[in-house]
This record gives sequence, C-alpha cells and structure tokens, in this order.
Amino acid sequence: MNMRLTGKKIVLGMTGGIACYKIAELTRSLVKEGANVQVVMTSGATQFITAVTMQALSGKPVYTDQWDARIANNMPHIDLTRDADAIIIAPCSTDFMFKLAHGACDDLLSTLCIARPSSVPLMIAPAMNVEMWQNPATQRNVKQLISDGVAVFGPASGDQACGETGLGRMLEPEQLLTETIAAFQPKSLKGRHLLITAGPTFEPIDPVRGITNLSSGKMGYAIAKAAWEAGANVTLVSGPTSLPTPYGVQRISVQTAQQMHDAVMKQLAQERQDVFVAVAAVADWRVANASEQKLKKNKDTDTPQLQFAQNPDILASVAAMPDAPYCVGFAAESENLLQYGAAKRVKKNIPLLVGNIGHHTFGHDENELVLFDAQGHRALPRADKQTLALQLVTEIARRIN
Ligand code: C5P
Repeated sequence: MNMRLTGKKIVLGMTGGIACYKIAELTRSLVKEGANVQVVMTSGATQFITAVTMQALSGKPVYTDQWDARIANNMPHIDLTRDADAIIIAPCSTDFMFKLAHGACDDLLSTLCIARPSSVPLMIAPAMNVEMWQNPATQRNVKQLISDGVAVFGPASGDQACGETGLGRMLEPEQLLTETIAAFQPKSLKGRHLLITAGPTFEPIDPVRGITNLSSGKMGYAIAKAAWEAGANVTLVSGPTSLPTPYGVQRISVQTAQQMHDAVMKQLAQERQDVFVAVAAVADWRVANASEQKLKKNKDTDTPQLQFAQNPDILASVAAMPDAPYCVGFAAESENLLQYGAAKRVKKNIPLLVGNIGHHTFGHDENELVLFDAQGHRALPRADKQTLALQLVTEIARRIN
C-alpha cells in the first residue's frame, strides 16, 4: 500500500493523560504513512512522556511553550498551523475539551487551536476516566465541540488505567491512524449504506469436517474499509476468516452459504441498502446428508457417500428484488476472464461485475481487476488490495451518485 499521508502536515497536540504513552506509537505510524508530524505538548503531557521521546519519533523539535524563542517572530501559536493540514489532539483531556469548547487560550496548544485558520480541521481523541467522560459538564463540552465542527474520535469503552471500566478510553493508535487517514479521503459515499459479503463459506460434512475454499476475505474486507473511509455505513457479512473486523464496520459472522443468504436478507429487510457488493466465494453446493455425528472410519474400504444440494445464489436473489440496491458481483475465473466476466454480468443481471483470476488472488495481498458494465470493460492494473478497493469504491460512487 502506498503511504497514505504523504505531504500532509499534522500538528499533533498532546495533553495530560496516561494515554500519552500510546502517542509514541501513533507518531511512528503517522510518520511511516508519510506525514510530517509537529508535536506540541502541554505541560501536563510532559508529566507522562518526555519531549525528547516525541522529538526522536517525529524527527522534529517539540514545542511546549508559547514564549518559545526558536520561532523567528516568536509567534509559535500562529506559525505552527499556517501550513498545517490538520490538528489532532491526542490524548485530549477533560480540561482541554473544556478549554476548546470555551475558546480559552492560556498555553501554547490552546492558543494555537483557537488561532488556527478556519480551513484547518481540528480532531480530538478524548481520554479520561469513565465518570469524567459521563459528567454532564463534559458531555455539554463534547456537544459544543461537535457543533463547532470538531471531529471527535472515540472514545472507546473498556478497562481504564485507573482500574475502573467504561467509556473514556482513548482509541488505540491503529484506530486513530485509520480515523486520520479517513479524514483526508473524499466522502464519495457519505451517508450511503453498503452491504458486503466476504470470505469463504464452510459447508459441514459432519460436526468436525466440512467443505470450504481458498478465499481469505482480504478483498471484501479491503472494500469494507475503503467504503467506510469514503463515509459509508458498512455492514460486512463474513464467512470464516482470520481477519480483524475493519474499524467502523459492522460485521456479522456466518459459516454456511444458507446462513450468509439469511443474514443478507435480514439486513436488507431491516435497513435500506444503497449498494450490495457480493465478494464472498459462496459454495455452490452444500452436503445434503451432513451427519449429526462424526463419520467413523469403520473398515478400510468404507467411504462416505456425500450427496449435494444447491445453495441459494445470494447475489441473484438480491438483484431480483423489486427495490434492489445497486448490485456489484465478483467473478473468480481461472481462464478467459474477458469473455466469462462479460457473460456473467449479463447472466446475473447486475450493473457492475468485477472479474479476477481466482487462483491468482485467493490469499494474496495483491490482485488485478477487470470491471464489466453495460459500456464494456476496464482493467484496474495489479496493485495491493486496499488500493484496488479504493479505486472500486470510487467507481461505485461515480455510478450511483
Ligand atoms: O456464479 P458465480 O459463483 O461465479 O458468481 C460469483 C458472484 O456471485 C460473486 O459475486 C459471489 O459472491 C456471488 N454468489 C452468491 N451466492 C452464491 C454464489 C455466488 O452471492 N451462491
């Protein structure tokens, strides 16, 4: 995957809180993604992690003081944000949220936030004890910040350093990185609902054996992630995979094709979906005479006699619905992709079909795609799956908007 924050200048403001130790990791990830990170710390933050650590990781001197004479005109509160693409406050303490909500400027970081050009987005990652987060005063401040256009990342719920449990945990560095990258993405699917199937299915033979395929789920998960980054509300119906659920995505885990079909239909009945992307490698057949108990090998000559029944075609069922969402199918072929892909799109009666060569993609991080629609076909050259997913999401958005 390309570095996704290349050329972005991010002012990373740190305030007092034990979550400061996680910002070392966030800084490294931001830098790895190509960002130019300027750390600014409040004096509270320096109680938890040193400016030396943050300078070493960001590769830039850290600013902590509004009277810092290193800036030629002695106006760090102005100069530090003039070429910034975003300001992220992480961790953002209860007190700092109060200061932002009320326009306080009694130290470098708060002054810099209020003095930022209106075009520079401000994002905060709250981190505090559960009672502090739930306190009505804090909740008033969050509401105010949201209505002022500040993006609030999290907080999450869980164990807290103080020993209590609940809302107020700062998001993990990886999740903050995802939020940051998403903040720079065009919101081409803003407010849209996408339903995606991904991964293989598993059709039981008996309680310990089954029939599955080599799909890893990577392409479907990458599309789910890209669609969330583009502003969509994403539900992922996934067969068994070892992949983590993409941040921000609702995942429904299933095993068999029938369960995947039922989960898709239930979701469609519950909530209007704008787009359905069928990426899953669904088993065409299930074992009709699956055994309740483990099949025993009694004699060396014994072989089980499996009978098969056809599974429902999920994509075809959705495409045939009277008020069908915009349907995107996948075709994993082993040869003649251009011919089979075009024919499959027509047969499935869908506006867009994405073709790939199955054994060249299953389990791999890279892929190449061919998009088939009523106008013809277009190749998306070999790239990592996340890059391709982003391109596909852009293509889908262009077609439905
Ligand atoms: O016909 P074929 O299985 O090659 O079609 C592949 C496309 O149809 C994929 O988008 C796949 O997710 C979808 N499909 C489905 N239900 C099935 C079989 C395939 O949704 N039972």
